[in-house]
This record gives sequence, structure tokens and C-alpha cells, in this order.
Amino acid sequence: MKITILNYLEHEGDKKHDTVVDQVARALKQSKHKVSVLGVHGNVNQLRTGLLRRKPDLVFNLMETFGSNQLGAVGVVGLLDLLSVPYTGGGPGEFYIQEDKGLTKKLLSFDGIKYPEFAIFSQDAELETGGHLHMPLFVKPLRMDASIGISGKSLVHSTKEMIERVTHIHKTVNDAALVEEYIEGREFYVGVLGNQEPQAFPAIEMDFSGMPEGMAHVLDSKAKWDEKSAEYKGTKAILADIPDEVRARLQKVAVDAYRALRVRDYGRIDMRLTPTGEVYVIEVNASCYLEQTGEFSTSAEAAGMDYPTLINRIAELAFERYKSRKAAKA
Ligand SMILES: Nc1ncnc2c1ncn2[C@@H]1O[C@H](COP(=O)(O)OP(=O)(O)O)[C@@H](O)[C@H]1O
Ligand SMILES: [Mg+2]
Repeated sequence: MKITILNYLEHEGDKKHDTVVDQVARALKQSKHKVSVLGVHGNVNQLRTGLLRRKPDLVFNLMETFGSNQLGAVGVVGLLDLLSVPYTGGGPGEFYIQEDKGLTKKLLSFDGIKYPEFAIFSQDAELETGGHLHMPLFVKPLRMDASIGISGKSLVHSTKEMIERVTHIHKTVNDAALVEEYIEGREFYVGVLGNQEPQAFPAIEMDFSGMPEGMAHVLDSKAKWDEKSAEYKGTKAILADIPDEVRARLQKVAVDAYRALRVRDYGRIDMRLTPTGEVYVIEVNASCYLEQTGEFSTSAEAAGMDYPTLINRIAELAFERYKSRKAAKA
């Protein structure tokens, strides 16, 4: 197959791209695919002409944002649909429901999947509440990812602190604020692969035991990105050491959430397990990060699926979706 890896460039004209692009390219080449890379920052014409020139059989979509627009992924896959180019991962409708953490919860609710109770504070001062909230609360942007707008201060213990944090998100992130009940407990990530019969990989646990005394056990933006910080140094992803029964339950909730949110091809479900044994879905990451040492690839590896096999399987899953759609039309 002719496959084009579509990826996001930090700046227009950048020559350098994220290592995940090289890793995915190498994996696809091992299966004899003809691979090209198209990196775009925020230029629609470049995106369109780049694709028309390459005429790929499949786009491997690693583009999560467009230019300075954090929510650009919806439009990017919309354009791919209009150009009739098959691609891996979700389409515009899927991405829209998945990026809005409030809509996500409403869909989980219909399928009886547990999530933290919540309220949404939009910037024009409406309040939408989903239940009765108990302190402590966790305040985060409604639609962002990569822990944008999340810090140690996101965990609040009073109305005053909560309002300060909501205002902070309105001002600095320019998004509605999602206020959730804080779920105390262990944090797990389960990777899921597939469409008709999604397969859940073994759970990865975020180990917070290295965090300094008194710091909230949350994966905020420092813990994710600031390599020098105590939060980064104090957290590490490990293969979860849990009883079979708990592993099976986490995997079942993950697959249920994956289906409820209409995730296509691959995704990662982030959950918390309370001391009383309840599993709450914190986030559904459709088309999650595919870096070779990241949580998703590591969990696939733990299931006996090496990185090249995983990446090629994602491409096949996407391609099969388009083939079956064509067959249904004929
Ligand atoms: N309701 C919650 N209760 C406990 N921890 C939470 C809650 N919401 C978020 N967190 C913590 O914050 C981290 C980031 O939140 P998440 O919703 O996954 O945002 P992002 O989309 O930016 O990754 C989670 O991995 C978890 O550690
Ligand atoms: Mg997350």
C-alpha cells in the first residue's frame, strides 16, 4: 500500500518532526508499504495539495491539532473525508464527541459506565450540572488534552478555590471548565485495538509512589512534560500488578467505554480504581499517542504484540473499514 503519515508540525516549514513519525514509518516499511510523510502546521492548501500529489491508499493520521487550533483534529479528518482519502482512527463526528469530556460522560451514562459526577461552567456563565457534587473537586478544561490547564491547583477543596480555578481556565485556556468529583485511587490505562471485536491489552498503572509528600497524585502537565520537575520524576508508568479479577474488570470497562464512544481502530481508556473496588472512567483517548515507549505500545507489547505488528495492524484495521464500506455500497 501507499501510505502517507500525516503529522503536525510545531512551526510552519519545520524539518524536524516527532520521533513517533519515524517509528511508525519504520514499522510500516518493514511490511513493505511505500511510506511518505506529510507534515503540516496550519496550512490547509499545503494539506490538500500534499495529499493530492501523494495520492495515498491510506493516510496514517498522527495529526492531533491544526496550527494554533487545539481542536483542529475534527476539521482535518473532515477534509480527508471530503477528499475521499481513507485514514486511520476517528472521523469528524467521532472526534467531536470524544474531545468533549461532558458529552463523553453522557454517552458513558447510557451504557451504565461509571464516571466522576460533574458540572460544566461555560465562558458565558451558564452552569450545566450533571449531579450533586461532593468536595474535593477536580477542575480541568472541557475539551483539551495533554494535561493543558491541569496542575497541582486543579484539585480544590472549597467553592472559592473552585471558582478561582474555573476563571483561570476560562482566561488562560479559553475553554469551558469541567468540574468533576475527585476520584481517589489507583490510576490505570488500558489500550484497546480493533473494530468489530476490540481487544483490550493488559493494564498499565501510573505509579505515583515517588511523588513528594503532600503533592496530589495526579498526572498534571508538569508530570507529563517537565522532565526536571518533582512531579515528572515522581511518576512512572508500570505494568499493573493486580489480581486477574481486577485486570479483567478494567479491561471490560475499557472495551465498553471504547464502544460507547465509537472509537475506531485504536484507543486508550484511562481509569481510576477506588479503594472500595469501583472503576471510574476518567478519559477516553481515541487515536492515542503511539510513541514506541508510550503506555499504549507498552501494553500491546505486554500482550505479546510487538511494535511493528501493532502499527501494521492499525493500518489494516483502517483499510478493512473502508473495504467493507465499499463492499456494502456495491
Ligand atoms: N476526576 C478526577 N479524579 C482524579 N484525578 C483526575 C480526575 N480528572 C483528571 N485527573 C487526573 O488528571 C490527569 C489528566 O486528566 P485528563 O482528564 O486525562 O486530562 P488530559 O486530557 O489533559 O490528559 C489524569 O491522568 C488524572 O491523574
Ligand atoms: Mg489524560
